[in-house]
Amino acid sequence: MDFARTQHSTRQRVRGPGSWARSGRLFGLSALKLPADVMTFLRAGLSDPRGVGAVAPSGRALARLITSEIVDTSEPVIELGAGTGVFTRALLDRGVPERQLVLIEAHPYFASLLKSRFPAARVLAMGAGELRRFDPCEGSAAGSVVSGLPLLSMPRREIMRILRGSFRRLRSGGAFYQFTYGPLCPVPGVILKRLGLRAKRIGWVANNLPPASVYRIERARRPSARRRRVN
Ligand SMILES: C[S@@+](CC[C@H](N)C(=O)[O-])C[C@H]1O[C@@H](n2cnc3c(N)ncnc32)[C@H](O)[C@@H]1O
Repeated sequence: MDFARTQHSTRQRVRGPGSWARSGRLFGLSALKLPADVMTFLRAGLSDPRGVGAVAPSGRALARLITSEIVDTSEPVIELGAGTGVFTRALLDRGVPERQLVLIEAHPYFASLLKSRFPAARVLAMGAGELRRFDPCEGSAAGSVVSGLPLLSMPRREIMRILRGSFRRLRSGGAFYQFTYGPLCPVPGVILKRLGLRAKRIGWVANNLPPASVYRIERARRPSARRRRVN
């Protein structure tokens, strides 16, 4: 949790669809005077724990690590599960122009918030699983995908769909970055193998709530036709 980065008054700028967002109170949580983005996460996480997959936005150290290898800022960068935009800000800090950012967020409240915070970015309120059929970069290949998706709470089939769609949008040599609170890569080995991918842990951040690792996932080889079906 990064308090320094969460001072924006989200509730004043974007009204969510749920009663919690309209009232600004849930079980008296507003009385705790937590930063607005932490409150937003708590509320969204309580209303949809599996979908949101966290009770607080990622901290700045994790945001720096997950964006640390993004060097070519002239290519589109796709961010999956952008939430309140912690990783988005780190991408801007690395010099990625806002207009090159494609932010994909399934939660309608977070999607509205992202549109108001990053008006030049392409914000799409949709599930990351749609990437297979829908090209958010309109013909340009993305250089990187940065994912804040809660893969540990997703079924394997959905993880497979998301990875397959993401690599369809990535240029040759492009990489997919994923963080996890778990001890292993959150993409099961069988999926990596079937899609011809490999994963490498690029770092661990103790200064995050909870501590998290980041994995770089990239193509190891071309997937064989025999292995294209899963589960
Ligand atoms: C763990 S939060 C991470 C948010 C932000 N990236 C951060 O690190 O603070 C996961 C985010 O993924 C979004 N999400 C969950 N499933 C999704 C899906 N299938 N497609 C797009 N976004 C999704 C949630 O709404 C939530 O904003």
